[in-house]
Amino acid sequence: MVNPATDRVLITGAAGAIGTALRNGLRSDYRRLRLTDVRPVANPTPNEECIVADISDRAAIERMMDGAAAVVHLAGVGGDYTLEDLWRVNARGMFDVFEAARLAGVQRIVFASSNHAFGCYPIDERVSPALPPRPDSLYGTFKAWGETMLRCYFDRHGIRSVSLRIGTYRPLPIDQRSLATWLSPGDVARLVDAALRHADPGCLVVNGYSANTRIKTQDPNWEFLGYRPQDNAETHVEMLRGMGVDVDGPWEWPEHGGSHARAPERVARR
Ligand SMILES: NC(=O)c1ccc[n+]([C@@H]2O[C@H](COP(=O)([O-])OP(=O)(O)OC[C@H]3O[C@@H](n4cnc5c(N)ncnc54)[C@H](O)[C@@H]3O)[C@@H](O)[C@H]2O)c1
Repeated sequence: MVNPATDRVLITGAAGAIGTALRNGLRSDYRRLRLTDVRPVANPTPNEECIVADISDRAAIERMMDGAAAVVHLAGVGGDYTLEDLWRVNARGMFDVFEAARLAGVQRIVFASSNHAFGCYPIDERVSPALPPRPDSLYGTFKAWGETMLRCYFDRHGIRSVSLRIGTYRPLPIDQRSLATWLSPGDVARLVDAALRHADPGCLVVNGYSANTRIKTQDPNWEFLGYRPQDNAETHVEMLRGMGVDVDGPWEWPEHGGSHARAPERVARR
């Protein structure tokens, strides 16, 4: 269990979109935040210590674990990535962060996994995290690998972890699919806060969504974790309608992973 008043929490990828939302949501309670990113973090407050480093710099990652009680691992590439970057950052970099944390005695890891870890399930199946992963891409495969690594770290080393299968993190929903998958800035902070404070989450995998009316998954782990989302994409449906989004028609994507599950896979290097 992390005590926000006294324990140091390291956030990787802290200059990114979710990292920025976490800083806004956590920094009033969390008195010792250590933030790292390959880019500088904007406008740090006195309780935020910033380290600019590449995730592939293992020595730097090991140094920044010093005195950390917990790690929130967000650093990663998504969207328009090359396979080489995906491997270097989302696979090797993730491995190095988890290994450095283990070797430093960190007892809690919160990991930004993704809905793409189960993106090949049909959309009419109300998937729960209890089901086996069905990744829709190499991106999703590496997220599922991160969850599996953390399972091993719990069984072998007793490290508690929560893997967050984040849906669509944005300030506002952006399309029809995100009416089901949206995770708001306030709710991502609430979810990470619950994952850090829980007395014993074991090795938990949870879906990272807001309380969206059109949600297409189910997750008993929200209750267990004490995660109570307060936002709902449906309150923005008129905004989307005004943008020309088809909010009333048939569901656009046949699998949970949306376009990921239908996109041509990037060609692997021979
Ligand atoms: N945004 C979403 O909807 C969503 C959905 C599912 C999962 N996720 C996961 O959540 C995490 C954060 O996502 P985000 O939306 O904030 O993305 P983002 O791109 O805004 O932030 C990622 C951060 O990682 C940093 N980073 C990238 N390569 C790095 C490297 N080599 N060394 C150090 N830092 C590096 C970037 O500089 C960036 O600030 C990612 O792991 C992503 O896969 C996001």
